[in-house]
Amino acid sequence: MEGKKIRRIALLTSGGDAPGMNAAIRSVVRTAIYNDIQVLGIRRGYNGLIKNDFFPMDSRSVNKITAQGGTMLYTARCAEFQTPEGLQRAADNCKYLGIEGLVCIGGDGTFRGAQALSEYGVQVVGIPATIDNDIACTHYSIGFDTAANTAIDAIDKLSDTMQSHERISVVEVMGRHAGHLALYVGLSVGAAVTLIPEEPYDMQRDIIDVIREGRIHGRNHSIVIVAEGVGNTNEIVKTIEAETGVETRLTVIGHIQRGGSPSARDRVMGTRMGHYAVEALMQGQNNVIVCYRDSQLCTVDCTEALSMKKKLDGYMYRVGKEVAI
Ligand code: F6P
Repeated sequence: MEGKKIRRIALLTSGGDAPGMNAAIRSVVRTAIYNDIQVLGIRRGYNGLIKNDFFPMDSRSVNKITAQGGTMLYTARCAEFQTPEGLQRAADNCKYLGIEGLVCIGGDGTFRGAQALSEYGVQVVGIPATIDNDIACTHYSIGFDTAANTAIDAIDKLSDTMQSHERISVVEVMGRHAGHLALYVGLSVGAAVTLIPEEPYDMQRDIIDVIREGRIHGRNHSIVIVAEGVGNTNEIVKTIEAETGVETRLTVIGHIQRGGSPSARDRVMGTRMGHYAVEALMQGQNNVIVCYRDSQLCTVDCTEALSMKKKLDGYMYRVGKEVAI
């Protein structure tokens, strides 16, 4: 279904940045220009929309950004945007600037903002980008692959020294509310234990016994991956050391996981999703999120998407446990 001809769109990135956002920005800009649509870049997420902080973008303004992590548009969280006054101002600014479609790149918070804005008459399409990969409507969010590989690279290095000292490594990876990243990283580095916010654990049974058992069977270095949202990481370290008698060290990888040059997967997904988002706007789609499901791109209604909760991959969790013996 072709909608009315769009002449000008805008785009913004909001919430936590994710490697691959720049590829999506480049793709949105170039796809729009290819279709004779003007593009405005909005700085600092919804803040920029409220404060009219924008600049016209052309093909050259997105040169060579695909290889860079972060977002060239900057990102921010915006409390004012959550008020009716803030939303009204943003919608008024869109109207004043002749913005006929808005692409919002980010996570759940970004989509809540986009959905609210659509109720004020702005045509919006979202692109999922978060290293947490916790957006329920899509199997993949831009940034996850790079973040996982960054964490894996760090843990591989850590393993060299920890193994030499026959220590136990407790490694905290990002994920305040979701364990998808921790689970993926845990499987990749052969963790003895992976703790995630979605699954309660028993200190003795799920950690101490597993490590002891491993040592009996010749494992001289155990890796314990803890998702940030589990909390208590210092306590976990102390208890492991006290109970096993083995030197235990904590490493928090932190925000390093959000940076770095995007992987091929994130560059390609960013580019594909950016292209798809502009085509969705051109078709007249509104209040939708570009999603990757069963190896294909599609759009999902934003309101429906926000009511979904992403389930943990139970099979992957079980595999992690069963191959950790
Ligand atoms: O949502 C992505 C994420 O990196 C989470 O994994 C993490 O808990 C959070 O953002 C950190 O947010 P901030 O950069 O605001 O500290």
